[in-house]
Amino acid sequence: MSGKRHLALLVTATLLALGVAGVTAGAARQLEIFSWWTAGGEADGLNAMFEIFKKRYPGVEIINATVAGGAGTNAKAVLKTRMQGGKPPDSFQVHGGEELTSTWVITGFMEPITSLARAEGWTKVLPKDLLDIVSYKGEMYSVPVNVHRGNVLWYSKKILDQNNLKAPTTWAEFFQVADALKAKGITPLALGDKNKWEAAHLFEDILLSALGADGYRGLWTGKTSWTGSGVKTALENYAKILGYVNADHAAGTWDSATQMLIDGKAAMTIMGDWAAGYFTSKGWKPNVDYGFAPAPGTAGSFVIVTDTFGLPKKAPHRDQALNWLRVAGSKEGQEAFNPLKGSICGRTDCDLNKFDVYLRSSAADFAKNKLVPSEVHGSAAPENFATQFNDIINVFVTQRNVAATQRSLQAACVSAKMCK
Ligand code: GAL
Repeated sequence: MSGKRHLALLVTATLLALGVAGVTAGAARQLEIFSWWTAGGEADGLNAMFEIFKKRYPGVEIINATVAGGAGTNAKAVLKTRMQGGKPPDSFQVHGGEELTSTWVITGFMEPITSLARAEGWTKVLPKDLLDIVSYKGEMYSVPVNVHRGNVLWYSKKILDQNNLKAPTTWAEFFQVADALKAKGITPLALGDKNKWEAAHLFEDILLSALGADGYRGLWTGKTSWTGSGVKTALENYAKILGYVNADHAAGTWDSATQMLIDGKAAMTIMGDWAAGYFTSKGWKPNVDYGFAPAPGTAGSFVIVTDTFGLPKKAPHRDQALNWLRVAGSKEGQEAFNPLKGSICGRTDCDLNKFDVYLRSSAADFAKNKLVPSEVHGSAAPENFATQFNDIINVFVTQRNVAATQRSLQAACVSAKMCK
């Protein structure tokens, strides 16, 4: 080989090597996280975790792949297309329970993270209830970053105080308070159900109040009938409650409904405690600007909504995905994320001094209440049922036909193979 030719080959080989190394290094220096966290405290909490990631793993570019729309209204469909098309993000927000297991684990899309969980000590600091719903056949598939409470009544302290009213603890009290507010021309209950799930969320809490924790749990195990008297009572109650919501509810969202309290346009709203994160992001303080109580008739029960992150097979930057999970599962990560997000830690060892008075009360209730899974937020039922549930409840909101709704719910339960 001539000296020139040898040199040329050497240069080409070196360039190729550099090129390949460049691509590999470039690829390894990214992390794509997929979620629907765009509103108020959602975005603030996520950014707080990103900051910790950046400090621990400097030089990694974070791609914040958010798809707006509360409760994953739009994000879940985008995620499905990507996963099924073999283009997963490095990690994605997913609710513990059926949403994780039925949709992604049993179908073979996820890698177990059990060994990482052991190495990081998560199995020792996560409560059994959470470990159970992120595990399948003895393997853990995601790490819970938080616990949200689904059954909370939020109210404007100013409006209730000015009208000498107390937060209702039962639906009977709610109707008294709501009538008094209505008489003064104040909208009693803010609702924004443009994306359907918001109306279903409210109904989930009404179901819990009518059935109690055990009866409500039975809905997901086939023990409580959708055509029985408990669900009938809940629907009748719901029809009455809808008489107290803002007329333009079909145009709003969970956050616009929450904003109505801040703007003095409504007195109360019922929503998960991401609403607390929203208030925090707007400078509203618990027990000063807003008050909180269990949704009427649900004291003693705690509807669990847990956001988790897992490891999809074929994650393009697997090492960084593992690093992300390390942050999401860490005490530092959870203590930064949750006070802003409006949730308590999934871990049991977080420092409660970092949390406001609302979140401290949520932590106390979580420790002593009956814990029940949310259906609307992915834990209690498979996706097939959850989608039908949202549709059926939205039809109910406009038509208010109790018997037809019960029949539809029963049919949905059968078609999702949850009941016979
Ligand atoms: C829930 C989710 C929460 C919050 C909420 C509204 O499904 O678990 O983290 O983001 O939707 O978007």
